Amino acid sequence: MLIDKIEALKGQLAELTASNAEELENLRIKYLSKKGEMAALFNEFKTVSADQKRELGQRLNELKTIATEKINALKETIGTQQKEANKIDITRPSFPAQLGTRHPISVVRKQIIDIFSRQGFTLADGPEVEDDWHVFSALNFAADHPARDMQDTFFVEQDKDDVARNIVLRSHTSSVQVRTMETQKPPIRIICPGRVYRNEAITARAHCFFHQIEGLYIDKGVTFADLRQVLLNFAQELFGSETKIRLRPSYFPFTEPSAEMDVSCMLCGGEGCGFCKHTGWVEILGCGMVDPNVLEASGIDSKVYSGYAFGLGIERITNLKYMVKDLRMFSENDVRFLDEFKSAH
Ligand code: PHE
Repeated sequence: MLIDKIEALKGQLAELTASNAEELENLRIKYLSKKGEMAALFNEFKTVSADQKRELGQRLNELKTIATEKINALKETIGTQQKEANKIDITRPSFPAQLGTRHPISVVRKQIIDIFSRQGFTLADGPEVEDDWHVFSALNFAADHPARDMQDTFFVEQDKDDVARNIVLRSHTSSVQVRTMETQKPPIRIICPGRVYRNEAITARAHCFFHQIEGLYIDKGVTFADLRQVLLNFAQELFGSETKIRLRPSYFPFTEPSAEMDVSCMLCGGEGCGFCKHTGWVEILGCGMVDPNVLEASGIDSKVYSGYAFGLGIERITNLKYMVKDLRMFSENDVRFLDEFKSAH
């Protein structure tokens, strides 16, 4: 009987539950769709006798309202549950975000640049892949100088018969010296930080690439005394105002006279200790007066102008400041090592 089916369905509807949108949709299809149970009852309604039509029609319509309301009510509950689940808890502690640190080489490079900037030097830059002229020939290297050999320099292109055609990875930043002299008129006062490459086996004390900063000052009447004063200021700003310097005669093809500079040992203050091999001094850079040949090669009149140049290794200075014993640590990027420089800014 239709009346019994209506009552049974009413009972079922009262019990309905759905825990998610998919279950709810299945219920909607089961009861309210064209092929659903409600539709089946309306079909059956067509066959009831005329005297029953009025009452059963009313009941059926009531049942349809109940079913629709039930489905809507369930829809609302699932909606609010979903919203609750999506809510962001702004009181929750955030994930510990790992902050990076500056690389020690960058830290020290910046310190060095800052010191020379305060003394009037500006930054210059040049390519790492260079031609023979800028790395060797313009810097007064003889054609048979050992640095032009495969053992010492990385060649990108090598012409055995004509060295002038060689293309190399620059083995020092002095190439930027040449580029600047070619394009600027004196007075020139620049520093050029950059990466350089040498054909060395990688050990704790040597690497096939490292970083240098080259300095160059050219003007009328520049003397060795000017060079010494700039380097003394530099050493005292970097290692402390008590620091002493000494210049030892040396040789570079592009400077004459040339010198190597030592600073008083930063560990013992010059008394002598294991670190400075009991000499009281540690070597930190090479320097000298720019050779007239070098000035002329770049189109600067050596009778009018003179100048000095110096070059230092950033890794070397970093080792001295932070006592890093193994050069390889600078390029391995072990986070435990880099983290040690968190406060060194
Ligand atoms: N270019 C030299 C080197 O790489 C350093 C240097 C630069 C020396 C300038 C003197 C003057 O060792």
